[in-house]
Amino acid sequence: MALFFAVLDGRLHDRPGFSCGVPALDDYLQRLAGQHQREGIATTHVLADDAAPNRILGYCSLAAAQLYLHELSVGDRRRLPAYPVPAVRVGRLAVSTAEQGKGYGSLLLGHAVSQALAVRQTMGAKVMVVDAKDERAARFYAAYGFQRTAEAARTLYLPLGRV
Ligand SMILES: CC(C)(COP(=O)(O)OP(=O)(O)OC[C@H]1O[C@@H](n2cnc3c(N)ncnc32)[C@H](O)[C@@H]1OP(=O)(O)O)[C@@H](O)C(=O)NCCC(=O)NCCS
Repeated sequence: MALFFAVLDGRLHDRPGFSCGVPALDDYLQRLAGQHQREGIATTHVLADDAAPNRILGYCSLAAAQLYLHELSVGDRRRLPAYPVPAVRVGRLAVSTAEQGKGYGSLLLGHAVSQALAVRQTMGAKVMVVDAKDERAARFYAAYGFQRTAEAARTLYLPLGRV
């Protein structure tokens, strides 16, 4: 068993076979993710195992975004120019019901952060941002250092630090 990440490939990955217990997140993967990827709205990354590479264990979708300065904490606003902050949005993140609780959600989040840091080599990205679907999901992100924005309790951001 060797886990790997790949960009969603509609010809390869079994989207109908994925279920995470949240219909909106299953539906996104099955109906919208491919279209969004083709249109440049969001790119979906899947976690799979090389023993069954078509089976999606979990996924996250990423897109360019921005946060307004007033959404950041006062400390995080320091030294920033007076226009919106470039961001990478984790649009959706889900793990297959059968695979939850094995650390895959954390792996996906780590992958999302590493993708954002890679993007930052070629274009500005100051924070990651996520809209948590409920309070439990907000706590999942908060456990990894995401902070709640001043404006909306379920929108959280993670400063990507300085290089
Ligand atoms: C939330 C979710 C992605 C977590 O993935 P996972 O693989 O089960 O989580 P992990 O095994 O990596 O656990 C990571 C931590 O998150 C916690 N956690 C697990 N499921 C959680 C949930 N639904 N909400 C909040 N925290 C959760 C775990 O307790 C664990 O904390 P610990 O290390 O202190 O024990 C997964 O349960 C899921 O897909 N749920 C349905 C969709 C969803 O709620 N997505 C949230 C994004 S909006």
